[in-house]
Amino acid sequence: MTQDELKKATAIAALEYVEAGIIGVGTGSTANHFIDALAKIKHKIDGAVASSEATAQRLKGHGIEVFELNNVGEMPVYIDGADEITEHMHMIKGGGGALTREKIVAACAKKFVCIADESKLVDRLGKFPLPVEVIPMARSYVARELVRLGGQPKLREGFTTDNGNVILDVHNLDIMNPVELETAINQITGVVTNGLFARRPADIFLMGTPNGVTVIKPS
Ligand code: A5P
Repeated sequence: MTQDELKKATAIAALEYVEAGIIGVGTGSTANHFIDALAKIKHKIDGAVASSEATAQRLKGHGIEVFELNNVGEMPVYIDGADEITEHMHMIKGGGGALTREKIVAACAKKFVCIADESKLVDRLGKFPLPVEVIPMARSYVARELVRLGGQPKLREGFTTDNGNVILDVHNLDIMNPVELETAINQITGVVTNGLFARRPADIFLMGTPNGVTVIKPS
């Protein structure tokens, strides 16, 4: 099976976790497969909150109503992919640059269902460069502070987030303690958010493998 077929299989498996009402929907190629699958059972939900403009467009394209988060209370579930995930359900996200809205929508959901192919499961986070969304005028200052934390930040060239900000991708971080590092980076003035999802980890990981979708819960 190709990696894309594994992504599609885990996205389809996530349909079982869809609950009535309004659900949160992530961003990326795996989330896109989920949106396409969701279209077939859209009568079961009232609509969705999107974690990016791209996701909102795709949902609307399937005739799924998209709600403003401020008009919605707590949601039963948020379904999204990841760039890396550990057995503790800590993740790096933001490869697609939607990390801030993803983290906000996830914060409003009772359950976070992560959907990804098996290549995303790692023993330790950090091989995938950690995305950090930054207010443009703070770019150089934040980059210097990230170097002090041991990373090598690189500006994502030609990219602006849905919130009008820039992304620094931080290479070579040794992420021994994801909760601590997530907090430390968020304390840097000018950082909007970072792609560590450790303070609010996933609750369940549906991992696409050639032998089927494995359900992993925190150890
Ligand atoms: C988007 O900003 C990301 O957080 C994605 O969820 C993550 O990059 C996974 O993307 P794929 O499903 O495309 O691998």
